[in-house]
Amino acid sequence: MKIEFSEPSLPRSGALVLIVAGEKELGRTARAIDKRMNGTLSRALRNGRFKGKLGDFIEIVEPVGIGVQRIILAGVGTEDDIDLLKLEDTGGKILSRISKKGDSNAAICVDPIKGVKFNPAMAAAHIAFGARLSSYRFDVYRTNKSSVDLPSLKRIKMLVSDVKGARSIFRSLNKIVDGVFFCRDLVSEPANVLYPKSFAERVKKLTNIGLKVEVFNRARMEKLGMGALLGVAQGSANEPRLVVMQWNGGPVRQKPVAFVGKGVTFDTGGISIKPSGGMEDMKWDMGGAGVVAGLMATLAGRKAKVNAVGVIGLVENMPSGKAQRPGDVVKTMSGKTIEVINTDAEGRLVLADALWYTQKRFKPSAIVDLATLTGAIIIALGHQYAGLFANDDKLSDELVAAGKMVGERLWRLPVDASYDDDIRSDIADMHNVGNGRSAGSIAGAKLLEQFVNDCSWAHLDIAGVTWSKKVRPTIPKGATGFGVRLLDRWVLDRYEQ
Ligand code: BES
Ligand code: ZN
Ligand code: ZN
Repeated sequence: MKIEFSEPSLPRSGALVLIVAGEKELGRTARAIDKRMNGTLSRALRNGRFKGKLGDFIEIVEPVGIGVQRIILAGVGTEDDIDLLKLEDTGGKILSRISKKGDSNAAICVDPIKGVKFNPAMAAAHIAFGARLSSYRFDVYRTNKSSVDLPSLKRIKMLVSDVKGARSIFRSLNKIVDGVFFCRDLVSEPANVLYPKSFAERVKKLTNIGLKVEVFNRARMEKLGMGALLGVAQGSANEPRLVVMQWNGGPVRQKPVAFVGKGVTFDTGGISIKPSGGMEDMKWDMGGAGVVAGLMATLAGRKAKVNAVGVIGLVENMPSGKAQRPGDVVKTMSGKTIEVINTDAEGRLVLADALWYTQKRFKPSAIVDLATLTGAIIIALGHQYAGLFANDDKLSDELVAAGKMVGERLWRLPVDASYDDDIRSDIADMHNVGNGRSAGSIAGAKLLEQFVNDCSWAHLDIAGVTWSKKVRPTIPKGATGFGVRLLDRWVLDRYEQ
């Protein structure tokens, strides 16, 4: 779907969307059209339940006296409640209303509106952003394209008088969508297609947009002593990979910021095998790695003024004659040992080595890791918030604020010393599970904390937010890409001001 910007003019075909705000106020273009239609729009606004609130729509099909196939009046609310997130939702809602109607073009007109203070260029860019975010589909495995109701919409024209302004705001937003879609594609792929090697190959393609990408194979990781990551991988016929991405858009001497992702391309649980019901969900146990790759693509795409590294640990967790057993003790790259009580608590083992490697090699100003780490975080927070754990209050506050800005919300949980005992092992430096059923997500974070040394660190447990079972205005069912927008925003606020 193409999105263009141009000055307000009357389109000759397709769908025309007119924004209505405040007390059912129309903008200049809408008023001109209303006149041509002998007041049809004003009459429509007076009728029925339309209040001009966000999500209120009126549709006029085949209007007389004007070439378009349909006019849609879309409410965006009053000045007090118009914000960028709501405009993005409006864009998403508009798109889902018109995408399957058969029109191939749509125009969305964003004029200034009397008595409502909002910046039309900014509004147009964010409506377009929301529309494109909601347009995501994953249809690669449908061989009979006519069996699904494919969207007819090919082109959206944003009509706004400050074309240049809107275009320039949209340029970076569009790169965020590219990163979100890259992530959603990775997360949607089945595990027979996306395994460590093929995942790494896809990431390698990002060299096209200026990222430096290194791929480590098993032998290389053995030399580095990554016994915890390799222990998880050893039961699988698919060999592991560690991928290091670098984007150097900041000052030469600036320490990089680092992002580390859990990339378990399929998590059967290993010998501590999971029940079969719902196990197919474990194809998206690489969600953290997907976000890191999508984020790095966004930073490179919009040429962010920052030095950033992304490290992802890619493994498949399988049971087999070669798989690790409950009770095995593995030695991590840091030298610390872990007793593997439960082979299904594998994400933390992968991250233990990926985190240690990252802080040791890059000495980053901060590390943020993302992982679909625990089922327990879903019990605690459901699908609305991701869990946040941090050893640095300022970093934590910044991330919470960035999340609020973009609608990817974080809720902080503790990782203080009072939980130290939960991961204490009788025979090794620590074990990989918590204390029975209590504080399962904290135990996971507690283990990760042992491998960040004294670096400023935050861990996002995204198990509840990586996959959506219901449609939301800017997120279709399935892979959400949660984390890409949030971390892009955080980088912008913290490093690019
Ligand atoms: N990948 C799972 C966590 C998960 C669960 C992600 C549901 C997404 C949806 C993780 O590797 C896991 O199995 N964790 C165990 C830990 C336990 C054995 C200590 C869990 O949460 O049950
Ligand atoms: Zn697991
Ligand atoms: Zn897992």
